[in-house]
Amino acid sequence: MTTDPLVVFTPSGKRGHFPVGTPVLTAARQLGVDLDSVCGGRGICSKCQITPSYGEFPKHGVTVSDDALSEWNAVEQRYDDKRGLKTGRRLGCQATVQGDIVIDVPPESQVHRQVVRKAATARAITMDPATRLYFVVVEEPDMHSPTGDLERLERALREQWHIDAVTADLSLMSKLQPVLRKGKWEVTVAVHKGHKDSVAKVVEIWPGLHESGLYGLAIDLGSTTIAAHLTDLETGEVKASSGLMNPQIRFGEDLMSRVSYSMMNPGGDQEMTKAVREAINDLSTSIADEAGIDADLIVETVFVCNPVMHHLLLGLDPVELGQAPFALATSESMSLPAREMDLTKMNPRAQVYILPCIAGHVGADCAAVALSEEPGKSEDLVLIVDVGTNAEILLGNTSRVLACSSPTGPAFEGAQISSGQRAAPGAIERIEIDPVTKEPRFRIIGSEKWSDEDGFDQDVATTGITGICGSGIIEAVAEMRIAGLLDESGLIGSAEQTGTTRCVPEGRTHAYLIHDASAEGGPRITVTQGDIRAIQLAKSALYAGARLLMDVMEVDKVDRVVLAGAFGAHISTKHAMVLGMIPDAPLDKVSSAGNAAGTGARIALCNIAARSEIERVVREITKVETAIEPKFQDHFVAANAIPHKTDPFPELAQVVTLPSPSFNSGGGAEEKSGRRRRRRS
Ligand code: FES
Repeated sequence: MTTDPLVVFTPSGKRGHFPVGTPVLTAARQLGVDLDSVCGGRGICSKCQITPSYGEFPKHGVTVSDDALSEWNAVEQRYDDKRGLKTGRRLGCQATVQGDIVIDVPPESQVHRQVVRKAATARAITMDPATRLYFVVVEEPDMHSPTGDLERLERALREQWHIDAVTADLSLMSKLQPVLRKGKWEVTVAVHKGHKDSVAKVVEIWPGLHESGLYGLAIDLGSTTIAAHLTDLETGEVKASSGLMNPQIRFGEDLMSRVSYSMMNPGGDQEMTKAVREAINDLSTSIADEAGIDADLIVETVFVCNPVMHHLLLGLDPVELGQAPFALATSESMSLPAREMDLTKMNPRAQVYILPCIAGHVGADCAAVALSEEPGKSEDLVLIVDVGTNAEILLGNTSRVLACSSPTGPAFEGAQISSGQRAAPGAIERIEIDPVTKEPRFRIIGSEKWSDEDGFDQDVATTGITGICGSGIIEAVAEMRIAGLLDESGLIGSAEQTGTTRCVPEGRTHAYLIHDASAEGGPRITVTQGDIRAIQLAKSALYAGARLLMDVMEVDKVDRVVLAGAFGAHISTKHAMVLGMIPDAPLDKVSSAGNAAGTGARIALCNIAARSEIERVVREITKVETAIEPKFQDHFVAANAIPHKTDPFPELAQVVTLPSPSFNSGGGAEEKSGRRRRRRS
């Protein structure tokens, strides 16, 4: 028998010779194989599980005999009895090398395990969070060589985990002594080390082996909604996702009205700061409840937000962002303790990281989209549009990336829409209008069936049909245009002009009736002329922003378009194109990426190298300021038509034929009322 067996690890392919008796965990560490361990090889954490393989391995040039590893030992038996080990698994810290062996490290035993994203353009997130758990055995105090408990904990971390130096807050210090004694000098600590920190910090301590996990929040703080993902910092798994409306809406629906509120009302900025921080505290509590974890286990939070939200979250007056030159208090990323921001419903020593802002109007949310979608690594020219109250737009490829933001308003999120509501059960999310009969059929959130299918009524019996959400309103307006209920200028025709009694008078204009439940005491769901105007304003701002970036890039078309946003995954690309939200492109080159800003936040939460990366990328992005660019206004006006007044949409024309009625010339209600107004004046 060889005294120097060969150990081959898969899937890494790393290999080396080790003396008989070497624990597999030790061999893995020496070869730099990614094998996890929280207890430092003491046989209690089970993170080091491996699967040995036996038999012939011509590929590796080894034959593995049945006794290539030491026998199953008492520690493994105890763990198996208590928790159960999968068949074929061994504990890497217990099994020792006895002969040539091939060892597989399963994904859940890898420290830097990859978390595959669900989106079509999935890129894996490599787990490497700033806060990690370490189990240590701390030396007991000795009167003859007096040292403090913290110093002995520090020594244990250095000797057992090669962590050089640590600090601890006073609040941690007050727990340290009782916990060390309760754990009989065996404790688990959560240690935070940010990408710019020279010294690590102990942020939490538990007696014995802590097995309840460690969590972080990735928060996309938008002007209208706040979306959070509670993420397991060991596995990267999203345990719960939750959201709520931004309570600052009561101070103004869009960003500029909040800046004005701050300008007009002394202390207004502080009121808004307090409101948003309270909402985040509520969200932390509710999301922890939903996942069934103690909110104290949330030790990190990453925020992405636009510049105004960024300032209001940090307690900075956003007044400078309301006027040129739109100076930010800082555009750098921020790392600070959560309690400095009054975020008290998470671990008291939780740390916050806020991504860098790109410019005065282009925020950390845009940086997060860049982190998630990586336009700078794209060979073809990609336009990324993150749809929200403020749209983040990126255009680029490997040579250059441009970014701007555009004030779309809250219409795409269902706000300011007469029958609008947030995406919740009961909301219409899909709609089709028959171009001949002009009759609608629709689907609501909570049911897979269309409204004209059997079983739909039973499905909606509990929720009812309550309104239209953001993706629903986009489809409704586009379908109205395809069905000839709406002309190019965005005017809804009358019943006579359109041939359907669903076009009903509403004041001086018309509305299209989708569903009427008023007889049963339910809502009457319509798309009004006011709704169309709100959508036109929003989509013109979006298109104009994209067009402006194309001007700067000196291109007339893009190779592909990515639609992102809190509801990005739900937007029908065809309908977005009919509306003219985005420039013309082959439909198969338009994709949805879901909440790219939220994903960017998750990436920064799970991987500290991504924080350095986005800080570097942001410095290389060219910022384009829409607010001071005269051409923005021209593009905006031309984009008011559906899909567009002057820009051709040849790719769209290949899949959809748009009728060309003009309800103005027919003397529609709005036109008549216009004449009346003119006569009076
Ligand atoms: S390293 Fe903890 S059980 Fe093996």
